[in-house]
Amino acid sequence: MEKARLYSGMQPSADSLQIGNYIGALMQWRGLQDSYDAYFSVVDLHALTVPQDPAELREKTRRTAAQYIGAGIEPTRSTLYVQSHVSAHPELAWILSTITGFGEAGRMTQFKDKSSRYGADTTSVGLFTYPVLMAADILLYQTDVVPVGEDQKQHVELTRDLAERFNSRFGETFRVPNAVIQQDTARIYDLQNPTSKMSKSSDNQSGVLYLLDEPSVNAKKIMRAVTDNDGTVRFDRAEKPGVSNLLVILSAITGRQIPAIEDEFAGRGYGDFKKAVAEAVVNEFEPVRNKALELMADPAELDRLLAVNADKAAAVANETLANVYDRVGLLRRR
Ligand code: TYM
Repeated sequence: MEKARLYSGMQPSADSLQIGNYIGALMQWRGLQDSYDAYFSVVDLHALTVPQDPAELREKTRRTAAQYIGAGIEPTRSTLYVQSHVSAHPELAWILSTITGFGEAGRMTQFKDKSSRYGADTTSVGLFTYPVLMAADILLYQTDVVPVGEDQKQHVELTRDLAERFNSRFGETFRVPNAVIQQDTARIYDLQNPTSKMSKSSDNQSGVLYLLDEPSVNAKKIMRAVTDNDGTVRFDRAEKPGVSNLLVILSAITGRQIPAIEDEFAGRGYGDFKKAVAEAVVNEFEPVRNKALELMADPAELDRLLAVNADKAAAVANETLANVYDRVGLLRRR
């Protein structure tokens, strides 16, 4: 039987991925890659929706791919490639933008958040059409499942709407994908501000744990994580957001259930608990970081791997695109 298809991607928007990307996405990807025909992209075209330094963007794109592999995505088994290497992505995005409503795109919460943060004058049209490009990423591969963190759910819903709209207007063309969201780890919060999502673009970097940082830096950030004065290690999102976030991190990384961890630390202080979290995170990140650094030391080999995978991806994507062009009535070039 043919395997179902899986698609996901990440932006190369920082020097390193953060633990939210790791727990919310990469760990899932790693676990699913054997059961699916999996496609993973580094979405460099998406990264351009906010200003980037050209040389740095190139470097971050390689670093992101290296971290995928470091985290256990196998480039000989999964199709791991760079979005801009497959030109069908922006081509399909254009077609999809013609069936996307202005109001529909304007309702995307991530766009609303980002545009209010940057202000109207510095908000690009690209930021507005960002979810349409994401829909193109997913639909080009006739995707069944899209494993993402909670924050991408609305974008996957838009993708489904666009697929259904296109299919009903032009005939069955796209498979309608489903988001896969691991509820308990769907959102990792900032260590210093545990009611807001951890993000590479956070103002306060001491609340963000980066995969490629020195282990001692991450350990220190965990020891300084904001908690509360109650002193008990107990999961309670509303009353104890800091402790709850650390519990989720420790549980996700060790595979242990939260109640078992609560029991282990009953009657002990936050110091011991944080030490355990720090140790688990540092041990988990170490092999990922080492492998990523090793790959980055040989960029030519990394580029070669990415090129082979881009060819594989393009073969699938171009077939869908040709079908789409045909359906919407573009004259075929002879
Ligand atoms: P990006 O680059 O912001 O994030 C990559 C993945 O990491 C997840 N994530 C988190 N999960 C839990 N807690 C957090 N604090 C956290 N921060 C990030 C995100 O949910 C995501 O799964 N638009 C996408 C990239 C994209 C894409 C696609 C994804 C482009 N095309 C097609 C899937 C399919 C994005 O910006 O992710």
